[in-house]
Amino acid sequence: MSTTATLLTCPLDKSPLTKRDNGYRCANNHHFDIAKEGYVNLLPAHHKRSKQPGDNKAMVQARRQFLDTNWYQAISDLLNSTVSQTLDTSRTNNLLDAGCGEGYYLARLVEHCDKEINAYGLDISKFAVAAAAKKYKALNWLVASNRQIPLADSSLDSIICAFGFPCYQEFSEKLKPTGKLFLMETQEQHLIELRQLIYPELKAYKPLDLTPAENANFVLEDKQSLQQSITLDKQAISQLLAMTPHLYRAPKEGIAKVEALSTLTLTLDVALYQFGRC
Ligand SMILES: C[S@@+](CC[C@H](N)C(=O)[O-])C[C@H]1O[C@@H](n2cnc3c(N)ncnc32)[C@H](O)[C@@H]1O
Ligand SMILES: [Zn+2]
Repeated sequence: MSTTATLLTCPLDKSPLTKRDNGYRCANNHHFDIAKEGYVNLLPAHHKRSKQPGDNKAMVQARRQFLDTNWYQAISDLLNSTVSQTLDTSRTNNLLDAGCGEGYYLARLVEHCDKEINAYGLDISKFAVAAAAKKYKALNWLVASNRQIPLADSSLDSIICAFGFPCYQEFSEKLKPTGKLFLMETQEQHLIELRQLIYPELKAYKPLDLTPAENANFVLEDKQSLQQSITLDKQAISQLLAMTPHLYRAPKEGIAKVEALSTLTLTLDVALYQFGRC
């Protein structure tokens, strides 16, 4: 865990946390240990809505294996080129990946940028954060929720939320007035071939509703679309199934059909939304 310029705040009373021994402490003596993997758990039990919230261990492992094979590299590259253009070259930029999963996108972004970055990744899944911290030791990893981000108000230059659960009001409070929010969202054709195979009927596509973002004083500045075709091998097919909720909610016959395939050509259809503050 980096000790320089920590922005961490106590999840119980929002006062600043300072590093002491093998953990963090606030002025009211609340203490949070640094786990052996190097992350800090700042998710108090009463902020949890289930015993083990977020992605489970099997989902995290599957996502790690799938992403590490770079099937989604084009998505990461789009994020890297867009976010890096907005960073200030004259100073350290504070950046948060909200719902970072096992850390692929944030780690690649920091590696890509030649600017000084103080990077935080948070996720509500302890398994995801442990996997991120174990692999990407130089970054700051937190178990926490997008609903209560344990970082100082008005401190962040950028927030990334990739395929996650945006909490616009909370994001707005944590960003500097000049800060940017980057949302990576799936679009209508994303993995359509997979969904057609596993579901008897597809749900109608709902485009991103901008109203909650606008209500939190965000203004859409840019939207970039990315479409690509990828052909997965058998191993990647089962990893993709295991890292998404499809495996848990799709009919068994549909899953069996996909599992029987040796290759599957899929459309990636995503968009990166860039918001500023108004
Ligand atoms: C679809 S995954 C995306 C992970 C990562 N951004 C990626 O694209 O690889 C959604 C992630 O959001 C996390 N999550 C769910 N609810 C959350 C919350 N309230 N706050 C933070 N993370 C949350 C899950 O644990 C999971 O890791
Ligand atoms: Zn405290």
